[in-house]
Amino acid sequence: MLRNGLIFLSESRAAKKLVTGTALRGMSRRFVPGDTVDELVSAIKDANSSGLSVTANYLGEGEKNEATARQAGDRYSAILDRIGEHGLNANVSLKFTQLGQAISDDFLADNLGRVLDRARDLEAFIRFDMESSDYTERTLAAFEDIWAAGRRNIGVVLQAYLYRSALDVARMNELGARVRLCKGAYAEPAEVAFQERSEVDGSFVSLMQMLLKDGNYPAIATHDDAMVEATVAYAKQHRIGPERFEFQMLYGVRRDLQASLVKGGYNVRVYIPFGKAWYPYLMRRLAERPANLFFMTGSVVRESPLGFLWPRGEGKNSA
Ligand code: FDA
Repeated sequence: MLRNGLIFLSESRAAKKLVTGTALRGMSRRFVPGDTVDELVSAIKDANSSGLSVTANYLGEGEKNEATARQAGDRYSAILDRIGEHGLNANVSLKFTQLGQAISDDFLADNLGRVLDRARDLEAFIRFDMESSDYTERTLAAFEDIWAAGRRNIGVVLQAYLYRSALDVARMNELGARVRLCKGAYAEPAEVAFQERSEVDGSFVSLMQMLLKDGNYPAIATHDDAMVEATVAYAKQHRIGPERFEFQMLYGVRRDLQASLVKGGYNVRVYIPFGKAWYPYLMRRLAERPANLFFMTGSVVRESPLGFLWPRGEGKNSA
């Protein structure tokens, strides 16, 4: 219930107005390292120096204003330029609704086309995040159109909590497209999504296996030890080398696990969001782990005193 409440708040304009610009911004630094491209570049450099590759995200979603959606497209082109200039080990993740999917499919195609052209010129890779189930089919259909137009520097995200995802994994494997697998971060009804954690985890493991076996350099995006262990075990059992897939995790989450996987010879990419539109992103992170509320409240008083509250080394994130 708390999870659904926090997801509801993530979509509430009134709640956003109440907290944006308050101390919550300071607290959100755990998950969002800054507002500017300079701050992003600095966070990417830090991650790269720890052996992590990066996917950079300019925060924003659900955009209905054409000028703002175009500005977001321009910002992504600028990020790609900076990644190229600095020779950073990074690609980009964006949301279709940030670039105008909620305005119209034609607007999105035009706005996104400019970013994709820039990415092609720079030989950069773009991942399309997956949003709520209202957008799943539209996003996959748009992805297939872009693929059919000959672009190959793109990848998509599939969510283990959706019943449909086994068919979608097969559909993307058939295409040869790169898939990021995650559990799913939105509040979805029982008509479309598993509701029990054990069911979501079971689906994640079986989709992970399909992707490792038949997919194209899949990204296994999770902080869950059990999912990571299942992936490592399946890869070893089927002699799938660590160069054939990567793990992905969010900035500020399970840095201990990120470091230990890098040490073990696995590719790990960290998702680094930046920008002022941090509110819905932050609320989804709270919904995933309501204990973050205590972490962030505590971190305002003292920087790193609460390690004992988190199992599995989570307290190390506060260091
Ligand atoms: P789970 O939620 O079961 O958590 C397992 C453990 O991980 C927890 O016990 C805790 O230790 C730690 N943990 C997880 N989340 C945490 C948090 N927020 N703060 C602190 N600790 C946390 N979703 C989506 O719908 N569309 C998308 O495009 C993406 N993209 C994406 C990219 C990347 C790189 C990642 C890692 C995740 C996403 N997600 C996403 C989010 C994803 O769907 C999911 O909500 C979160 O990753 C949490 O699920 P876990 O697999 O980590 O497991």
